[in-house]
Amino acid sequence: MKEQLAKIKSEALAAFGAVTSPAALDELRVRYLGKKGELTAVLKQMGKLSAEERPAMGALANEVRSALEEAIETASQKLEAEALEERLKAEAIDVTVPGKAPKLGREHPMYSALDEIKDIFVGMGFTVLDGPEIELAELNFDRLNAEEGHPSRDWSDTFYFDEDSRVMLRSQTSPMQVRAMDSRQLPIRIIAPGRVYRKDEVDATHSPMFHQVEGMVIDKNVTMADLKGTLNLLAEELFGKGTVTRFRPHHFPFTEPSCEMDVQCHKCGGAGCPTCKGEGWIELLGAGMIHPNVLRMANIDPEEWSGWAFGMGLERTAMRRFKIADLRLIFENDVRFLEQF
Ligand code: PHE
Repeated sequence: MKEQLAKIKSEALAAFGAVTSPAALDELRVRYLGKKGELTAVLKQMGKLSAEERPAMGALANEVRSALEEAIETASQKLEAEALEERLKAEAIDVTVPGKAPKLGREHPMYSALDEIKDIFVGMGFTVLDGPEIELAELNFDRLNAEEGHPSRDWSDTFYFDEDSRVMLRSQTSPMQVRAMDSRQLPIRIIAPGRVYRKDEVDATHSPMFHQVEGMVIDKNVTMADLKGTLNLLAEELFGKGTVTRFRPHHFPFTEPSCEMDVQCHKCGGAGCPTCKGEGWIELLGAGMIHPNVLRMANIDPEEWSGWAFGMGLERTAMRRFKIADLRLIFENDVRFLEQF
């Protein structure tokens, strides 16, 4: 029996020492210490021993049992430690791996240009107004002194909603002049940016939808000199000190006198190139002194008040500001282009 116990002990200890999973360990525990286990089987034979042999053998059996229990405990601790180690390895975060940078969008260059324009005018005491893109022909034309039959009212140029040409997509931001005169107290200093619509085919310089920024001042003793001074300041703030501008006489029904302002081409510096169509200049805006009829229709006395207004093309301004050669780039939203700004 002594040999049996010694054999169980050495076999069991070797087995426990080599065990690799909790399930296998449990199996071994049952095999040696379970009710039908090998050690239990030996202990059951104790009854056959003589009274003298029993105490020594009992002590030996107990010693083997506790040695096995201890070995089980050690093996189970070892397995737990290994499992923990493995989990830590699996869940480890390598803080030295380069991160995935979130892809941030950026402001469209045209809106960057608009923000600069707003800043410049707000700095001079102007208020920024917003208005409807669906407009009454009355405000887009009549109240702007463009009487029935004026060429700009033609169906081939304008998007009307109804047969009798009363409701339309505004063809200019100028109706905002009328809305400002109708809703605000004098003196008035406003700008009004927004979309406008004309029946144009898309090419390098045209689009059926584009943006304008309207500007208007009505006050006492306002002259053309104020208009030129303000617009020259705008050009220098936007395009840099020393920017060269040019005012050409023009005609608009709602201003008298009227003009257009050009800035020297940024591509060729005035020599003439494809961007300025060989002219050396880029047309930026129309402007002029508000026509007395327009003031009168808004119940403003032209003997007492005078004013000027301008309407600038926002896409063109952004093209000049950021040296963009083709209008279509502004609308195509190709990220390879937009990422440069
Ligand atoms: N509305 C004119 C246009 O679209 C521009 C303009 C605005 C001219 C204000 C004079 C005064 O061409």
